[in-house]
Amino acid sequence: MRLGFRLGSHELRHGLALAPMAGNTNLAYRRLCRRFGAELTTTEMVSSRALRYGDEKSLRLLERGDDEVPVAAQIFGADPETLACAAQEVERRGFHAVDLNVGCPVPKITGCGGGSALLREPDLAARCVEAMVRAVSIPVTVKIRAGWDDRDRNAPAFARRMEEAGARAVTVHGRTREQKYQGLADRELIAEVARSVAIPVVGNGDVVDAASGLDLARRDVAGVAVGRGALGRPWIFRELRAAFEGRPVPAAPGLEERLELLRELGHGVCGLYGETIGMKIMRRLAADFLKGMPGAPALRRSCNRLTALQDLEVLLRQALEAPPAQARAGAAA
Ligand SMILES: Cc1cc2nc3c(=O)[nH]c(=O)nc-3n(C[C@H](O)[C@H](O)[C@H](O)COP(=O)(O)O)c2cc1C
Repeated sequence: MRLGFRLGSHELRHGLALAPMAGNTNLAYRRLCRRFGAELTTTEMVSSRALRYGDEKSLRLLERGDDEVPVAAQIFGADPETLACAAQEVERRGFHAVDLNVGCPVPKITGCGGGSALLREPDLAARCVEAMVRAVSIPVTVKIRAGWDDRDRNAPAFARRMEEAGARAVTVHGRTREQKYQGLADRELIAEVARSVAIPVVGNGDVVDAASGLDLARRDVAGVAVGRGALGRPWIFRELRAAFEGRPVPAAPGLEERLELLRELGHGVCGLYGETIGMKIMRRLAADFLKGMPGAPALRRSCNRLTALQDLEVLLRQALEAPPAQARAGAAA
């Protein structure tokens, strides 16, 4: 395994990263993942145009904790000058790296030329990265997909282009834009990208436990980014770290510890966004935590009714109490 790389002045021993996920990877969630061993965290994608024009709602997505080192902010767009301005805002706010989104498959984003649409415009993408590199002194990184569709799996050539443009690392989600989140990430293609460039390549896609993490880690990558596998399971980073160090994989936290993490997350999210918006965000995050627990369908219905921190306390009690013996055994499994 070739895990580990430097990002600016920061050494990432195992290259263990939390993948950016809109609506999920807020500061409170990133903190939990970091506590369990995530070495690099990234904000969800933020519109470069909105940042350039100082949009308050978007600026709030650039919340960063002083304890979060290193942390990257991810921006999307397709206009070099706008991306350069947004990158400067990211640097002003103390982030340690700025990441360009070249993976988002959503038509609202690709329709404006951003996200994975840039995979079909390598010249424009290179100009975007060059403009960002000129504008800031923090490292500029790029997150890409395998390609636009099955006929055009251009990730290796695209990554080389990003490297020439000045990108300091590339994360590869091994699915095409056409696949969205279906099928499996192509790990051989990720390995090919890793062998095609000299900059660190972080592999991404379908890491859900130590075994799948090890399988990806053995593909010449310098790091592994975990997305959905970390939703409701921030401790996956502890499992991966142990696996990468050849140690036995620690058991998942028991029910009570999980619920305590959920309580902490709820308070963290409400601290960031206020109780009304915070609890809307928590409906989804809490459901992820409670997945697979006995009584999960009823608990999920309670998640949908979260409107205040008080409701979260009721939900936590409900999860603890019903049905106690099975719940404890199930959560520990
Ligand atoms: C709900 C959700 C939101 C996402 N938001 C972003 C995003 O803002 N930026 C980005 O680059 N990728 C985003 N992704 C993609 C993930 O970062 C990751 O590449 C993808 O989920 C594959 O990794 P996984 O199999 O570990 O989940 C998102 C994925 C999900 C499921």
